[in-house]
Amino acid sequence: MILVTGATGTSGREAVKALRALGAPVRCLVRDPAKAADLSAMGAGLARGDFSDSASLSAALEGCERALLIAPPDNQIERHEGAFIGAARGAGVKLVVKLSAVNADAASAGYFSRAHGRGEAALRASGLGFVILRPTFFMQNLLGSAGMIRERAIVVETTGSVKALVDVRDVGAAAARVLTGAGHEGETYTLTGPRALTTADVAAALSRALGRTISPVEVGFDEFRGALAGMGLPAWLCDAITDLQRMFANRAAAEVTDAVSRLTGSPATTLDQFIADHRGAFA
Ligand SMILES: NC(=O)c1ccc[n+]([C@@H]2O[C@H](COP(=O)([O-])OP(=O)(O)OC[C@H]3O[C@@H](n4cnc5c(N)ncnc54)[C@H](OP(=O)(O)O)[C@@H]3O)[C@@H](O)[C@H]2O)c1
Repeated sequence: MILVTGATGTSGREAVKALRALGAPVRCLVRDPAKAADLSAMGAGLARGDFSDSASLSAALEGCERALLIAPPDNQIERHEGAFIGAARGAGVKLVVKLSAVNADAASAGYFSRAHGRGEAALRASGLGFVILRPTFFMQNLLGSAGMIRERAIVVETTGSVKALVDVRDVGAAAARVLTGAGHEGETYTLTGPRALTTADVAAALSRALGRTISPVEVGFDEFRGALAGMGLPAWLCDAITDLQRMFANRAAAEVTDAVSRLTGSPATTLDQFIADHRGAFA
């Protein structure tokens, strides 16, 4: 049995789909089973639980040999992952696959990089079998800008952004292969799309697919942070996202790897394909 946490989220749902497509037995840790009807319909079991309730993690892990650790992108990543790793040790889990992030670094000044870096370090030190998956920025994040693309025909990014955007469906498929296969223990895989893309590249791909001009707009980091604050995001998250964007301008997510195709046997999804698959959201 394989436990998947964060199963109702963007990456977790894709991992569950991919695992079920391979016929693997899956149990999903969920806070609210009502949000997981589609996962049940795929044949996944549900265990109600919360990262802040260690007993619920232990109960969910009972009888699981392997687990996919997806922590929510909140300000508790280190605490949640620590609790999960402790529960996994207690439950005798053989392999924990952690969804990390491309620029994970325990010493980073940026919150998400630091939190994932510390989570990786805790897992490496735990004595558990482990695999670390470090995706770059999800193509699916573009769906959050779909309204602006549709209504204002612009795609907005911070200055100098360049990222080898990865489709989260590929992340789920790679996770499923690692969780069901052999020979991955101790490995760290950086999961990327097939190309590093600038803001102009993203705008050009959208323009091609939609048949109208979508213009790239790059804003400074202070302006960007101000816009996030104006949307009501808490200060820590405004800082965390802006720090990430600064790292992207320094090419932290620009490296292209072949890990997706090596793990899944299929080429990494292109941005053109992603846009074609989600055309209705952008058109
Ligand atoms: N977005 C990116 O581009 C990107 C890139 C690299 C790495 N990552 C990393 O990928 C990870 C997952 O991101 P995502 O976008 O898939 O997340 P997401 O869509 O926000 O999903 C978060 C999941 O965590 C669950 N959750 C929230 N709080 C919980 C709690 N206290 N206990 C148990 N479950 C809880 C949510 O359940 P509910 O449905 O109940 O809310 C949901 O299933 C994060 O660690 C993020 O840093 C993201």
